[in-house]
Amino acid sequence: MRTAVRIGALTRLAKPKRQQKRCVRGAKDDNGPMPHSFVEETFGLGGQVAAVVGGAGRIGSALCRAIAAAGADVAMVDIDLPAAERLAKQVGEETHQRVMAIAADATSEAQLAEAVSHIGQRLGPPRLLVNSAQFRGTGFYSSNVEDYPRAAWEKVLETNLTAVHLACQAFGRAMIAAGGGRIVNISSTYGLVSPDPRIYGASGVNSPVAYAAAKAGVVNLTRYLAIHWQDKNIRVNCLAPGGVFDNQSAEFVENYCARTPLGRMAAAEDYQGAVLFLLSRAAEYMTGAVLCVDGGWTAW
Ligand SMILES: NC(=O)c1ccc[n+]([C@@H]2O[C@H](COP(=O)([O-])OP(=O)(O)OC[C@H]3O[C@@H](n4cnc5c(N)ncnc54)[C@H](O)[C@@H]3O)[C@@H](O)[C@H]2O)c1
Repeated sequence: MRTAVRIGALTRLAKPKRQQKRCVRGAKDDNGPMPHSFVEETFGLGGQVAAVVGGAGRIGSALCRAIAAAGADVAMVDIDLPAAERLAKQVGEETHQRVMAIAADATSEAQLAEAVSHIGQRLGPPRLLVNSAQFRGTGFYSSNVEDYPRAAWEKVLETNLTAVHLACQAFGRAMIAAGGGRIVNISSTYGLVSPDPRIYGASGVNSPVAYAAAKAGVVNLTRYLAIHWQDKNIRVNCLAPGGVFDNQSAEFVENYCARTPLGRMAAAEDYQGAVLFLLSRAAEYMTGAVLCVDGGWTAW
């Protein structure tokens, strides 16, 4: 069923007068239950157009599903077109929103510009953006830091950091032209703290230095953009997720869970609510923030 609520245009950052009005409106004497429409208006994304770069990925596709279920039309922008097409069809059928697949390499400015224009023509101006692409391909786990190959370093930085900058540029321009927007960049716990090499056991593998550097870069890129676009009605925030269970070795999973206060690895769905929150009006007073959803991993 199509979500009935349409929030319409994104609001500008609250001005004092309006804030006052909202405070008065929000104060309830009877302490009765909040109306259902409050939840929809606060957390819903009805009437919005969202782009998820890396939308065909494990986390990316779960985010597309949640964003569409919250009422937005969604463009899954991914280098893997067949996967994006398959998932877009699935999510569109499940949510009854318009969900389209767009082939683009996020390290290419030209392809990103084309994607923005294509989305604008098909769905309307994209005013919500999630950056969820990553490279973990050949060479990613190549070796220890002393010998980590420069080519692998550059490839990881290019997709996991430069592409985030380029997508923010391309979609940011469209958001400025449309009067504002909301961006969520996906970093990682490994952008905040070093990986703990002990959880990789005797495998000799560790999450690589290039990934940690790229993900830390995403955090401060987010802060920079939040400040740079503070008067453009664009909120930019960052999600720092912990590790998703993906049939890793039993030893790794056991070590990971033992190190995690909540005692388990994540499912991709664990990040849906946090990203909806950051995209929604509920987070209207948040920009330049890092929301850590990691089962407590970084709490000690
Ligand atoms: N999975 C985890 O455990 C985990 C943990 C912390 C953070 N993260 C971060 O969350 C985000 C999503 O992770 P995921 O597990 O969904 O990753 P994933 O590998 O499943 O998906 C990544 C997607 O990005 C696409 N992609 C790769 N290069 C691209 C490019 N140049 N242009 C466009 N698309 C490209 C891939 O085709 C794929 O669909 C990533 O930024 C990742 O670093 C993941």
